[in-house]
Amino acid sequence: QSAKAAAGFTPKLEDYQKVYNTVAELLDEAGDYDDGSYGPVLVRLAWHASGTYDKETNTGGSNYATMRFAPESLHAANNGLAIARGVLEPVKQKYPWISYGDLWTLAGVAAIQEASGPKIPWRAGRIDGFEKDVTPDGRLPDATQGADHLRNIFYRMGFNDQEIVALSGAHALGRCHTDRSGFEGPWTFSPVTFSNQYFALLWNEKWQWRKWNGPKQLEDKKTKSLMMLPTDYVLVTDKSFKKWTKAYADDESVFFKDFSAAFSRLLELGVPTTQWVTQTPWELKTLAEQEE
Ligand code: HEM
Repeated sequence: QSAKAAAGFTPKLEDYQKVYNTVAELLDEAGDYDDGSYGPVLVRLAWHASGTYDKETNTGGSNYATMRFAPESLHAANNGLAIARGVLEPVKQKYPWISYGDLWTLAGVAAIQEASGPKIPWRAGRIDGFEKDVTPDGRLPDATQGADHLRNIFYRMGFNDQEIVALSGAHALGRCHTDRSGFEGPWTFSPVTFSNQYFALLWNEKWQWRKWNGPKQLEDKKTKSLMMLPTDYVLVTDKSFKKWTKAYADDESVFFKDFSAAFSRLLELGVPTTQWVTQTPWELKTLAEQEE
């Protein structure tokens, strides 16, 4: 079923811009939740919905929005994402013609752009699948592991070392929760602003293993208020990864450009080209741009 058939009309860029705006407006309705924004958890939803892609079997990815179904919804890697799916449910009710895959990925785009991040080229066309399409557990990265594991996971999606580093920069946003992953704390001092601060901190600060009862994670020596996962820390210890970490720490515009390209591609993994509503991706406007 195409986007057109599902909608009963052919949705256009302006229709998706309305969905974007509705998502953008609810980001700040988070109140006491975390750092006052649903943005970070929505970025994580878009990523986990897409990062299940396997290029060998051409399965997984955002096309069928299979995280709606058990057991994928219950995979430990997806702990906490029911919150993100719940936040978007009223948006789905308001615009019933949009597929869940389009909604979740578009919400990730809105969250990045509204947090002062780069423009993320985005296309519509994902369709809703069924329970039979759920992906097996173990396709998303395990934060307790090292560089080999990161490569196994991301090469399987079709990414290279530079893209692994660029994508990891999303950890400028948000935080870890003991009741979701077991890890605790934010990576940066401003977890609701998209920036290259994650790389600057990784590169410039001294990191030490935190002494606590939880899983192995690092803390910054100076303030002990920030964290890095073992998989974050390999971005400054692995020879091939670290040159990109340095490049992104030095120049935010290079990071923005590379992140935008890699994240845009991540969100499209596994979607048959015939499904896209347009061949050229769109650029959605931020709320601020529309006020001008
Ligand atoms: C959060 C692991 C890559 C975006 C987290 C959390 C873990 C994690 C353990 C904490 C979850 C929680 O307790 O709430 C990893 C690992 C990666 C990776 C091992 C491998 C490189 C990515 C990528 C993106 C991303 C590629 C997006 C492009 C996020 C965001 C959060 C997050 C935005 C914060 C969520 C929130 O604040 O609720 N990640 N991640 N991560 N991750 Fe990743």
